Amino acid sequence: MIARSFSLLLLFVISVPWAHAQNALAIPETMEGPVYSLTMAPSTHQFFDGVDTDTYGFNGSYLGPTLILNKGDFVQMHVANQIGEPTTVHWHGMHVSPEDDGGPHSIIQPGTVWQPDFTVLDRATTFWYHPHLHERTGEHVYRGLAGMIIVRDPVEALLSLPRTYGVDDIPVVIQDRQFNNQQQLAFRPGGAGQQGDTIVVNGTVDPVVTLGASVNRLRLLNGANSRVYQLGLSDNSTFQMIGSDGGLLEAPVELERIRLAPGERAEILIDLGGRTGESLTLMSYSSELTRGEPGGVPLANDPPLPPGSINGTDFAILQISVSEAASGDIQAIPQDLVTLEDLPESSADRVRHMRLDTSEPGPGAPLAINGSVFNMNVINEVVNLGDTEIWEIVNNRGGPHPFHIHDVQFQILDRDGIPPPPEESGWKDVVLVYPGERVRFITEFLDFADPDTPYMYHCHLLGHEDDGMMGAFLVIDPSATAIEREGLPGPFQLATYPNPAVDWTTIAYDLPTQSTVRIEVFDTVGRSVELLFDGVRAAGANESIWKTGNVAPGTYFVRIKTDTDEWTKALQVTR
Ligand code: C2O
Ligand code: CU
Ligand code: CU
Repeated sequence: MIARSFSLLLLFVISVPWAHAQNALAIPETMEGPVYSLTMAPSTHQFFDGVDTDTYGFNGSYLGPTLILNKGDFVQMHVANQIGEPTTVHWHGMHVSPEDDGGPHSIIQPGTVWQPDFTVLDRATTFWYHPHLHERTGEHVYRGLAGMIIVRDPVEALLSLPRTYGVDDIPVVIQDRQFNNQQQLAFRPGGAGQQGDTIVVNGTVDPVVTLGASVNRLRLLNGANSRVYQLGLSDNSTFQMIGSDGGLLEAPVELERIRLAPGERAEILIDLGGRTGESLTLMSYSSELTRGEPGGVPLANDPPLPPGSINGTDFAILQISVSEAASGDIQAIPQDLVTLEDLPESSADRVRHMRLDTSEPGPGAPLAINGSVFNMNVINEVVNLGDTEIWEIVNNRGGPHPFHIHDVQFQILDRDGIPPPPEESGWKDVVLVYPGERVRFITEFLDFADPDTPYMYHCHLLGHEDDGMMGAFLVIDPSATAIEREGLPGPFQLATYPNPAVDWTTIAYDLPTQSTVRIEVFDTVGRSVELLFDGVRAAGANESIWKTGNVAPGTYFVRIKTDTDEWTKALQVTR
């Protein structure tokens, strides 16, 4: 509606004054530490003049305050849940312990307060926070629960960069929403999650921001449930990208376009020097999205677009009107930013394979990672503390999936063997993986061993995530457990440790070749207690965790079946 006619207008009458009412871009308030108090509650928000739309917000009607964190600070979060149902809050991108991370296991019951605390270990960058309750993340975010996090550090502070929040350093939380006839948010679960026809930036529809005729910094966050944006300026002038998900790049990268998948961030500089009085628009050139990206040009087999859809069209995100520069404004873009230490491939302790696919062959099967649909009680992967790992993500099913990992930032090694372009060469926590593509990244797991609480990896299309395109991994300290990998005869080896187990045990096994693997636990009378894994595993050393905290003490049998073999091992559970 408004947003769409606006984009048609852009196509034909670019230089004519704007015919549509523009709304001043809302700038979320900032909150500084060391204590951050957030309350999630139902509210109403005026996306459209005089119309109250039912929403959720953090300390307000829609979205939440921008949290300003300083590297090295010890911070305390107080997160109150007043939405009347359970949820969680995750600090997307931050390097915190699994208990502080706010994944699906850290449930905040309604009427209670969650109080994680941690030291900020991250580099200066832009993160965000959002709920992460399994099967409810999409809806909670859609109704308005999200906010930006800005981390500052001494390295960034020395650079000549715009950093006056809301003046020349602008948070830009980009979302699309579908409103019904009553202009209420029309959330529809399932699939990738819908794409709405109304663009909302920081909660503002048809936004305009006034920036000085100087260098300005935009912190772009794709906070959409399932739309990829192809961002660029309406006059096709270039901008400089200075930061990706996890920090600054080595040097500014000059770009005409930047593609952001859900969950991704980018910091860009726009040089408006000498342009006082002009007007330009940050656009999404979604007509250039032709590879099946959600929100792009529909492909041959896609279902027809709903009426009013902006998918595959070019539309406005944010109008910029240029005012005179103020004294002290930044007028030049620095040549160099930070030094990035590359993690060399040769430093990797292992390669971990992630197959984006369905849980079983055939149409209609649920999307899965390595054949497994997310299960709150299953640990899919175990990482040894201190290890450097290469993760190889292969997309075998559906459209492009933005793969996200908690706990760490990674460096992309290659896409189908080709090193990434400069804009993807910095620290990342989300990477869009195209159909048929093989993306490799490298990362280190240096902190936060915890044998109980897992971190997540998942598709950041919130519909896919809620449908279970997600897995759980533990970081464990192998030297802290009594490891006895017993050498066993036969084509593969199986060991469980610790044995006896109290809260958990690791089931370790070697496969001579890639194989389907089914790991199941039985009690002494042969009843199945739990199916731990059913899917394909790579050749070599593999591990699963069985959480034994909820079963009665006693003897159990772990059985592994592969394509060719079967092995069973007894395990004691004690308290
Ligand atoms: Cu932004 Cu696991 O999420
Ligand atoms: Cu995350
Ligand atoms: Cu997906």
